[in-house]
Amino acid sequence: MIPASVIEDIRARNDIEDVISSYVSLKKAGKNLKGLCPFHSEKTPSFVVYDDTQSYYCFGCGVGGDVINFIMRQENLDYVSAVEYLAKRVGITLPDFNDKDKTEKKGVGRSRVLQMNLEAAKFYRDMLFDEKIGAPARSYLIIKRKLSSSVVKSFGLGYSPGGSRSLRDHLKNLGYSYEEMTEAYLCGKNERGYYDYFRDRVIFPIIDVSGNIVGFGGRAMNDSVKPKYLNSSDTPAFKKSKNLFALNFARNHSSEMMIVCEGYMDAISLHSAGINCAVATLGTSITSDHARIIKKYTNRVVLSYDSDEAGQKAAERAVRILGEAGIDTRILVIPGAKDPDEYIKKYGVEKFRSLLNGSLSKFDFFLEKIKDTYDFRQDEERIRASNEICSYIASVYSKVEREVYISKASAFLGVEKKSLEADVELTRRKNQRSEKKKMTAELLRQTAGLSDRVNPDFAKDPVSSRLEEDLIGMVLSFPDLLKVKVDGSELSAEDFNSSFTERLFSFVKKESDESSFSIGLLSRDFSEDEVSRAIKMQVKRRSLSNTPETYAIYVRALRKENGKSDVSDSLESIINDKRTGNK
Ligand code: CTP
Ligand code: MN
Repeated sequence: MIPASVIEDIRARNDIEDVISSYVSLKKAGKNLKGLCPFHSEKTPSFVVYDDTQSYYCFGCGVGGDVINFIMRQENLDYVSAVEYLAKRVGITLPDFNDKDKTEKKGVGRSRVLQMNLEAAKFYRDMLFDEKIGAPARSYLIIKRKLSSSVVKSFGLGYSPGGSRSLRDHLKNLGYSYEEMTEAYLCGKNERGYYDYFRDRVIFPIIDVSGNIVGFGGRAMNDSVKPKYLNSSDTPAFKKSKNLFALNFARNHSSEMMIVCEGYMDAISLHSAGINCAVATLGTSITSDHARIIKKYTNRVVLSYDSDEAGQKAAERAVRILGEAGIDTRILVIPGAKDPDEYIKKYGVEKFRSLLNGSLSKFDFFLEKIKDTYDFRQDEERIRASNEICSYIASVYSKVEREVYISKASAFLGVEKKSLEADVELTRRKNQRSEKKKMTAELLRQTAGLSDRVNPDFAKDPVSSRLEEDLIGMVLSFPDLLKVKVDGSELSAEDFNSSFTERLFSFVKKESDESSFSIGLLSRDFSEDEVSRAIKMQVKRRSLSNTPETYAIYVRALRKENGKSDVSDSLESIINDKRTGNK
């Protein structure tokens, strides 16, 4: 584990304003900085960066944290990698902290898995290019699947030999233990011992945007072998739901659009045909994590899924998930072939490109449908048609695209462009308002304790929960408050009713006893949502008194709620005053 003091040093040298400024354009607002939240789409800034507490909080979507947590979200990294990333940013070289705790508790650490994967990828590649051992795999990839050898090389494809010990023995010689290999899903174990997980398969390394090899997919070369694909399961270095195959290549070619496919071979085929913006999911459906990652690179996705029913169903689901992230998403239907790979082989890439263009002019199809539905000779019908068209255009993300459509629609309906423009704007504002309402309703539900995922105990006792959240809000900024004795004793875990605030309390207490607490440590033990909630508590206390006296009042009030202490009426009235003062 990286020691708290090192983390504190890295955090201190990475000023939160500097770091966030390189992603978000921030403007001074009073003592703080404000900008458009990078984690949800908004038109007016509600994302605030606090210099004094070195934290950020978005009043729109409720996410918050410190600089480490910001990098985790923004660069899609886990805690340790985010710390490494920031260390590198300020030129600190981290010593190899032998992850003893982690090895005991959760097994091998991320960096060890990555090293092992790199060695494995080199080994698989060498096997593929081995004159004799790799011959069948080379002929599979190059003759059967028609890949050029330069594509094979740039994707780092490989071959895992058929025996059951070749990678195992190779990695052992390099100093990795069988347990570590098993943890990385490079080996499995049965009665006869450890064996290679991938055997006699062509290998697709999965590379993340930083160039790390995070996992592998292996395809059988003979269709009678089941399963067709084997994939690394989740390891400390890899989560299927957060990675996309070929994103390392596609990320720099996706500003116009990204093509998302279902299969490794589909993505590779597109790249080898010169379409560089293709990625593939890894045998799972699209998740909101994927959507968040994709949103960093593009605002438009074309889904190019298998043409069977399952594929089309999955595509419709993906449209919803990507749409929720504000990505304009289209479904590409590929007639006469099972998937994009097959389509390109059968009909050529130019045909694929024209399908792609076709999908982009979906608006024309929409207008055709309108024409069939309404009788334009009747004014009333024409107005209804116009309304429907405006609401379609209003839902389009890109301004340029909206303008193009408005021009088209104006000619189509025989209505002035200006009037259409005004109607579209009106609809957009209405949509935005209702979206905002939805968001506020969700926040209200959260504070009311309904559907509160992060602090599920809140609803059981809202009064004490609110007091607990206030206390946590204070100690996050002023951990020394924990040493204040109230009626003879310090605040303790027993004083808490909800397990979430109790966990926060215990964490701050433990860290501040051991060395010194800083909010940057939270991300080590708490999920992103939990950190956001903690920052929300801290932000709430910013404009209020956080003196030892105030703290004592809250502790007493909490104990009184729990029936653990007698408080005189006069004190209670002070508390009530304070509490109303907080609202
Ligand atoms: N997949 C998997 N396990 C399987 C089958 C499929 O993990 N048994 C995943 C793989 O990531 C694969 C994707 O689902 O790339 C799509 O599957 P499929 O369409 O069956 O394979 P293709 O990618 O089309 O592969 P190929 O063209 O080589 O048959
Ligand atoms: Mn295929």
